[in-house]
Amino acid sequence: MADASAICRSHSFESDEEIDGIRKRLLTWYEANKRDLPWRSRKAQSLNEKAYAVWVSEVMLQQTRVAAVIDKYKIWMKKFPAVEDLAKASLDEVQELWSGMGYYSRCKKLHEAAQKVVNDLNGIIPTSCEELAKQLPGVGRYTAAAIASIAFNERVGIVDGNVIRVLSRLRRVGVAHNSKIAENHFWFCSNKLVDEECPGDFNQALMELGATVCTPKSPACSSCPVSSSCLALKQVHEQRKFASSKFSKTDNGSLPDIESSGCSLCLPPTEPWDSDKGVTNFPRRGKKTAVKTEEFISGVTSFRSNDIDYYLIVKRPSTGLLAGLWEFPTVPFLSSNGEKKIQLLGHLRKFLSEDELSEVEIRESKTVSHLFSHRRHIYHIHKIILSINHQTSQSLSKDLVHFKWVTEEELFRLAISAAVKKMFEASGDIVSPNVGSKTRKRKLNGTQQSLEKFFKSK
Ligand code: ADE
Repeated sequence: MADASAICRSHSFESDEEIDGIRKRLLTWYEANKRDLPWRSRKAQSLNEKAYAVWVSEVMLQQTRVAAVIDKYKIWMKKFPAVEDLAKASLDEVQELWSGMGYYSRCKKLHEAAQKVVNDLNGIIPTSCEELAKQLPGVGRYTAAAIASIAFNERVGIVDGNVIRVLSRLRRVGVAHNSKIAENHFWFCSNKLVDEECPGDFNQALMELGATVCTPKSPACSSCPVSSSCLALKQVHEQRKFASSKFSKTDNGSLPDIESSGCSLCLPPTEPWDSDKGVTNFPRRGKKTAVKTEEFISGVTSFRSNDIDYYLIVKRPSTGLLAGLWEFPTVPFLSSNGEKKIQLLGHLRKFLSEDELSEVEIRESKTVSHLFSHRRHIYHIHKIILSINHQTSQSLSKDLVHFKWVTEEELFRLAISAAVKKMFEASGDIVSPNVGSKTRKRKLNGTQQSLEKFFKSK
């Protein structure tokens, strides 16, 4: 909780009766309105099985919309119905299934944690919030609290983006929602509020309310089961009353002071209540962390055999961003190293022989930009077409780098990031300067360039 001496009482709960009322109304609302989601209706033979099912759903739901998770979850649980199935799968298989959901490190950690459960913990998922967070890689406070409360009925609160929105409005928390003081306060409130008998349902109800009623831009306050306890809504009503009453002004003619000066959780005096925003004054955004931009040169490299195009793809290192995923050959762009094509061809020599590279057609260059959680990558795309046929199918490796040739269909079944999908699409739009059409070009008629020519021009 925030420092008690520096915060006003309104940010906490008035009484046990108020807490009881919020619990009852929220749980009744949830029972009547909860969405039918596969992880909620899934039958489990044991608490361990249930914990696994909740764990998978919660990892998938972090940063991804419920609608986008439903199908993936069903496919995942069919392929890996128990923690043992996940543990014995290869990382490649697991990442292929995860493909398209982003945040691949979460998937990798989930796989690692499943192996830990099977190899070190006798197949038993820890049953308390504390042990879940302590023992399982990738399981933080939120995921541990979700598994512990939903699967094991532990009385522990939960805080995610939806809960932050609900609580910041309920208790008028007006400081940046990601500041330490706000974060601690949200955990304090959620732990105080969580129902004693049904903590799992209560936590899901709070998240569900944030997802469906107390939404970021257009909250449906008239359908909200806890609107009578909502201090943000109370502020809206008081302000309306004030605006419509000529007698309600204080001596100096201003709105009665609702913010308590010096309180470290109230709206800051520098960014006070904005009457146009109503309850959406809360939560307050934190400062955005600067996004670092990095540039790369990528080659969508292919050859054609029997009317089928084969693409060269390379496996990324097993650690770091997008670890273990497949991508088109990509090299950091260094402006001091000369022409992009030369840099790219130099990189391609890791995978292709001089013979293969001697007759290539290269088309520059579309630029694709992709925002990862904390960095922006700009890819300068080149389409590179070999005229020499290649052995396909098996994975090759040189200097510990794995690469292979795949068809378009195979490519989209592999574990690839959304950025690679964008690059593939962009490469289809690359046309030679004397061809007007913007449609995807499979037939190639750009200028033939040999590698020697590029290296000569260096
Ligand atoms: N968001 C993340 N987990 C959720 C859950 N179990 N219920 C509703 N929304 C959620």
